[in-house]
Amino acid sequence: MPEKSFQFWPDLASNFAFDVDLLYGFLLLVTAFFSVLICTMVIGFALYYRRGRKVNRKLGHHSNFTEVIWASVPFVLVMIMFVWGAALFYKMQTPPENTLDIEVVGKQWMWKAQHPSGRQEINSLHVPLGQAVRLRMISEDVIHSFYVPAFRVKQDVLPAYFTQLWFEPTKVGKYHLFCAEYCGNEHSMMIGSVTVMDPEEYSRWVEEGTPEAPAVAGERLFTQFQCDSCHRGDGTGNGPSLAGIVGKMRPLKGGSTAVANDQYLRDSILNPHKQILAGYDAMMPAFQGQLTESDSLAIIAYLKSLSHSPGPENAVSMQDLNP
Ligand code: CUA
Repeated sequence: MPEKSFQFWPDLASNFAFDVDLLYGFLLLVTAFFSVLICTMVIGFALYYRRGRKVNRKLGHHSNFTEVIWASVPFVLVMIMFVWGAALFYKMQTPPENTLDIEVVGKQWMWKAQHPSGRQEINSLHVPLGQAVRLRMISEDVIHSFYVPAFRVKQDVLPAYFTQLWFEPTKVGKYHLFCAEYCGNEHSMMIGSVTVMDPEEYSRWVEEGTPEAPAVAGERLFTQFQCDSCHRGDGTGNGPSLAGIVGKMRPLKGGSTAVANDQYLRDSILNPHKQILAGYDAMMPAFQGQLTESDSLAIIAYLKSLSHSPGPENAVSMQDLNP
C-alpha cells in the first residue's frame, strides 16, 4: 500500500494532473462565485422584502440591458467550460506515437497487468518515468473502472470491448490504484498501487524472472487449442491463414469489411461467428469460456508476431523503449 493513507490533495504525478486541476479549479471558482452571489441575494432580498416592511413592491420597468447580461455571461462561461473541457478530453483520448503498451485485465476482484516483456503483476502496476504509457484494458466479467487519482485518469474497463487509457508519469513514487465502478461484493478491495520508476530501473524490473513473452505464450496456446490444424500457415486448412493479417482490411461474408485490429482479433477468437471471413463457413467453435481474455491477448500477440508489416496497434518492444 502507498505510505500516505490520507492526503487532502492527491500528488500531481502525470502529464494531465496539473491541467485537470486547473480546469477543476476554474469550475470550482465559478461555482463558488455564483453560489455565494445567489445565496447572498436570496437572503438579502428575503430580509429586505420581509412581511410588514414598508418597501416598494411594484415591478420595475423591463430592462433589455439586464436581460442581455444574464443570458450572455452564463453563455460565455459555459462555452469556456465546454471548449476547455473538450480540448483536455481530446488530449486525454489521443495517445502519442511510441507508447509503452501494457495489457490490463479487470476481474472480480483484481487487476492483472502484463508488460510487453511478458512480466505479469496483480493489483500493482510498474511504469517508467517520463514514458507515455498506454493501457489496453478489458474485463473478464463485469464493468470495472481503472482509476489513479494521482494521475487524474479514470477509464471504464468493459467486458468484451477494449478500452484504452494513456498517461505520462512525471513523478517517481507509489500511488493508489482504485476500481471506481461498483462491481460486486469485494469492489472496495479491488485496489492496488501504481509505482513510477526510473526508466533504467523499470527496464531491469520488467525483465526480472525471465518472463515468457506474450507471443511465445500465444503460440503455445495456438498449438494447444489446435488452432493450427485449421489455420495453417500456407492457407490449405479449413480456416484462413493468419500470417500477416494484423492491421489489414478483411472482407466479410455479406459484403462488409473489417480491419483486423485488436477488437476484431479478440472477437474472432472468442466469438468467431460475429464476423465470418468472406469465402469461409462458420465452422470455428467459439472459445468464449475456454480461453480467458489474457489468453486471447497472448494469441493476439502471437498473431502480431506473424505479421511482417506491424500495424499501428502493435505494442512497442523493449528495443523501442531503450534504443
Ligand atoms: Cu472492479 Cu469495482
